[in-house]
Amino acid sequence: MSSARPFYVTTPIYYVNDEPHVGHAYTTILADVFARHHRIHGGAVHFLTGTDEHGQKVQEAAQKRGLTPLQHCDELVERFRALWVRLQVSNDDFIRTTEPRHEKVVAEFLIELQARGEIYRERYEGLYCTPDERFWTAKDVVDGNCPLCGRPVVTLTEENYFFRMSRHQEWLVDYIKTHPEFIQPKTRRNEVLGFLEKPLGDLCISRPAARLHWGIPIPFDSEYVTYVWVDALVNYVSAVRETEFWPASLHLIGKDILTTHCVYWPTLLHALGLPMPETILAHGWWLQGESKMSKSVGNVVKPLALVDLYGVDAFRYYLMRDMVVGQDAEFSEKHLVQRLNSDLANDLGNCLNRVERMIGTYAEGRAPEVRGEDDADRELAQTGKRTVVAAQEAMLARRPHEAIEATLQLVRATNRYLELKAPWKAFKTDGPTGVATALWTSAEALRLAAVLLAPVIPAKSGEMLSRLGVADSPEVWFPRPIVDDEGGALPPANETAQGALAATWGALPPGTEIRPGAALFPRVETTTES
Ligand code: ME8
Ligand code: MG
Repeated sequence: MSSARPFYVTTPIYYVNDEPHVGHAYTTILADVFARHHRIHGGAVHFLTGTDEHGQKVQEAAQKRGLTPLQHCDELVERFRALWVRLQVSNDDFIRTTEPRHEKVVAEFLIELQARGEIYRERYEGLYCTPDERFWTAKDVVDGNCPLCGRPVVTLTEENYFFRMSRHQEWLVDYIKTHPEFIQPKTRRNEVLGFLEKPLGDLCISRPAARLHWGIPIPFDSEYVTYVWVDALVNYVSAVRETEFWPASLHLIGKDILTTHCVYWPTLLHALGLPMPETILAHGWWLQGESKMSKSVGNVVKPLALVDLYGVDAFRYYLMRDMVVGQDAEFSEKHLVQRLNSDLANDLGNCLNRVERMIGTYAEGRAPEVRGEDDADRELAQTGKRTVVAAQEAMLARRPHEAIEATLQLVRATNRYLELKAPWKAFKTDGPTGVATALWTSAEALRLAAVLLAPVIPAKSGEMLSRLGVADSPEVWFPRPIVDDEGGALPPANETAQGALAATWGALPPGTEIRPGAALFPRVETTTES
């Protein structure tokens, strides 16, 4: 973790043709979980997200609203920014493709590609859907009609600029085969290799400004703008141009944008002589019934409504716990409530509440000193140590649902341990010394669970830690303020707290004052839960 370059993690930059939905929230929270996990383990992190603002879709969305494209983007981009703040996303940067820092690098790249002989201009004929303003291949067209809208296509002749993508096919196949970590999971890697078994064409990288003006001008021909995907992919580099962060450690994407990220992007980088990102990880889709949740289908769930109802941590927890990265999952509010009630309210919240109350009643509100250990005490300590390893391994393997489950197993083991040790009985017979070990051990298990869950439920973990007396300030869990107003790094919020925040068994200092609070996750009673 002491490498010079930080862990540089990205999300796709989202189209601003509509409001963000649960699918966008998922990828961004997933990136946030990995970013927070790396920070907690002491690694430097650079976390980038942003918006994709050029192209046909955005131009049309603005037109419909009677706004200029930029007015439309300026308005929509705030919904994304506000959502990320609300969802406690700790991104270090936010890039808009309409920013000069980005447009400048796109132009530079195109000039460089031109200089390297990677671009040519060609007249070609294609089947064009005028209402949808896009070309189709003969294969796509259904009985002479557009496969998207069903209206007839026409034959259109156009001149455009092309990137010699085909040149890089052999190199790319070889690169993917010799770098098993490059495309994950394996199923997606095989999908890309399968796609690359057919000859790869060249990539049309321009659009005539006459029919699409909302784009970055081709620097050597003002009659054209840049194809929106070429524009968008460059964000990962343009945002960090003045730094040493490139190449990225991890590009997180949905499987819907696999080819652009695993074929277009690597070949463009290779043509430019730039290093490859370490890993492109494609996750599955949140489904509504059988179909993908998407703007175009119109079946999207709005994150803010759920956050208002159930809280940001329960929302994040559900998304991270119920999707296996790489697989699809069905989105269900009922399942969200079930997770909230069982894992968070029953298991975690109750355990905290019990331990706080017992420490108040039997130990004058302070974590006691351990007085002797029996098998049950040693077993919970072992479980705690094993959980740290399991959770860490799962996070590094990009399987957050396993890290969460391992941690919840620790919490459930703690609840069982308390049943077994029954401090309420032991206190009657043996007094404070008879319950000291059980109280310290269960408080320590909860401290550890809070640390391990912090990437997923940062606010509630912060609250747990502050109730367990180990972190004065939940700000430890909000990495935004680690830089002061002048841009200088701040020291850790609380030096003593740092030790107690360790992801190792045994760090809870005896004598720590426990400060009980209200139910951490109040149960939600609802008719949808059955
Ligand atoms: O494709 N389930 O933007 P976009 C899971 N601008 N994730 C989902 C999802 C679902 N049902 N729906 C969307 C674009 N996503 C381009 C990207 S990057 C250089 C340019 C997430 O607004 C998922 O991450 O259509 C998916 O890849 C992304 O949103 C697509 O967002
Ligand atoms: Mg999309």
